[in-house]
Amino acid sequence: MLRIPVFRLLGRTGVSRVSLLKGSGSRHYSSGPLGARDDVCDARAYFTTPIFYVNAAPHIGHLYSALLADALYRHRRLRVPSVAATRFSTGTDEHGLKIQQAAATAGLAPTELCDRVSAQFQQLFQEASISCTDFIRTTEARHRAAVQHFWGVLKARGLLYKGLYEGWYCASDECFLPETKVTWQPGPSGDSCPVSLESGHPVSWTKEENYIFRLSQFREPLQRWLWSNPQAITPEPFHHAVLQWLEDELPDLSVSRRSSHLHWGIPVPGDDSQTIYVWLDALVNYLTVIGYPNAEFKSWWPATSHVIGKDILKFHAIYWPAFLLGAGMSPPHRIYVHSHWTVCGQKMSKSLGNVVDPRTCLDRYTVDGFRYFLLRQGVPNWDCDYYDEKVVKLLDSELADALGGLLNRCTANRINPSGTYPSFCTTCFPSEPGLLEAPVRAQAEDYALVSAVATLPKQVADHYDNFQIYKALEAVSSCVRQTNGFVQRHAPWKLNWESPVDAPWLGTVLHVAFECLRVFGTLLQPVTPSLADRLLSRLGVSATERGLGELYFLPRFYGHPCPFEGRRLGPETGLLFPRLDQSRAWLMKAHRT
Ligand code: MSP
Repeated sequence: MLRIPVFRLLGRTGVSRVSLLKGSGSRHYSSGPLGARDDVCDARAYFTTPIFYVNAAPHIGHLYSALLADALYRHRRLRVPSVAATRFSTGTDEHGLKIQQAAATAGLAPTELCDRVSAQFQQLFQEASISCTDFIRTTEARHRAAVQHFWGVLKARGLLYKGLYEGWYCASDECFLPETKVTWQPGPSGDSCPVSLESGHPVSWTKEENYIFRLSQFREPLQRWLWSNPQAITPEPFHHAVLQWLEDELPDLSVSRRSSHLHWGIPVPGDDSQTIYVWLDALVNYLTVIGYPNAEFKSWWPATSHVIGKDILKFHAIYWPAFLLGAGMSPPHRIYVHSHWTVCGQKMSKSLGNVVDPRTCLDRYTVDGFRYFLLRQGVPNWDCDYYDEKVVKLLDSELADALGGLLNRCTANRINPSGTYPSFCTTCFPSEPGLLEAPVRAQAEDYALVSAVATLPKQVADHYDNFQIYKALEAVSSCVRQTNGFVQRHAPWKLNWESPVDAPWLGTVLHVAFECLRVFGTLLQPVTPSLADRLLSRLGVSATERGLGELYFLPRFYGHPCPFEGRRLGPETGLLFPRLDQSRAWLMKAHRT
């Protein structure tokens, strides 16, 4: 029997110290379909969220993980509409010591706790319009079969052996810790207790015979994978952090626990005295969903993009690819990493009583509003702070005033009495500006607007690809501001439909504004699906005209016919997004007192 030393420090660099990435954009005119990317058209793509622990009810951090994956999935569906080409899974992580202990504390059988909390996640995701194609629970029979098969493959390939593990274990984080990652703090009764340096959660000393995975063999293969796939882990600082960890020696990993200690899990095949380590169990969920071990899974693997929080980077970027390589499979295509939400500057925790309930937020701010807030304000590279006033301010200014106001101003009966998509006049707004004098009415800033909106879908697609969804929304918001400036500059309310001089230009101003709105509505679909639907319906854009493949911006400007000209606008004239500040005044008051 081999004796395994206390587990060594995996890395010196904390991921919380990662720094900001800066992006850049380019400008050009375009008349072709916008945002469709040849490289993705035929391929399959599979997006995943982490599966969520069922020890406690969901909070806004969990919803954020799911929303990021949902937006990536929906954006990809805009590029490749075929349902069969894209898949999106989420689910609940139901085994392990953490759940076993939470059930005991709650006086429930583990299955009871799992059913209850898993249902809460499913309900939240349904309410938040998370469009997952699959929901997995690790207590399902199909998952047990997949995990046991995967275990068998690792065993058959000589990667598992029995050894004595002695070291610290943190049940809250379900991870083994080296001595250097443990500190002592006064506990509830005043005694000094060992806790994890990273999470602050209690740890306990463990000494038992386990199955051990030969992780140490994978240090160089993992380095080669990351060197030759510089985009494997995005944003880049996290990729860099993993390579830093791999500079250190990689210890072998205990992948089972004694069943007498951990009974709530999947037994090791052929050895009931051991339960499979919950992280090995949980990670295999990504394969279970796509049918593993049946051959069908091969059409989805490794075309996989995992969305994860920074706290679980080590498990996804080191353990998981090593397990996969060990089983003769490729690591996942991409790992997208995000940071955390804090609340009024503090870590969210049950003990501090500051956990933000996502369902209350969806009720208060609407589904679209809260989705927009989290994705617009959440920056993957660093932690973001949540407070209610911030939500109200952002939604009022960007959705109610800027976007809603723009739509309202341009479609109001007063300004557009015919209720149709107006015509574009190429004499007033020629594609080659030449000398900007009569009959040309467009000004230099108007050409800048057309250029900005023409390149917007590509910019947005690039930001999605770099997992900077907030930057995509920032770019849309900046174009909305530019479009409002355009409308303000030309004051269509001062032009007269009856005047032969004004009418073509009035139509053109509204046409350009509608075209911009059509692009914004199309690009906002992954983030605010129902608001975007209302916006596009109001513009008279049909369901089959909402993909990126069909998004020809301002075709008349480029000498092509425009299918929308003369079309009747949709009947819904209500506010696109009502301002919150009045109705939520109580909220501000509550916070000030
Ligand atoms: N069960 C594991 C994942 C297994 S995946 C094979 C787990 N579950 S979790 O419920 O603790 O966390 C799920 C996700 O929520 C993680 O991506 C985590 O980073 C994210 N978040 C948890 N708290 C968070 C915040 N305060 N803010 C943002 N995301 C946070 O880990």
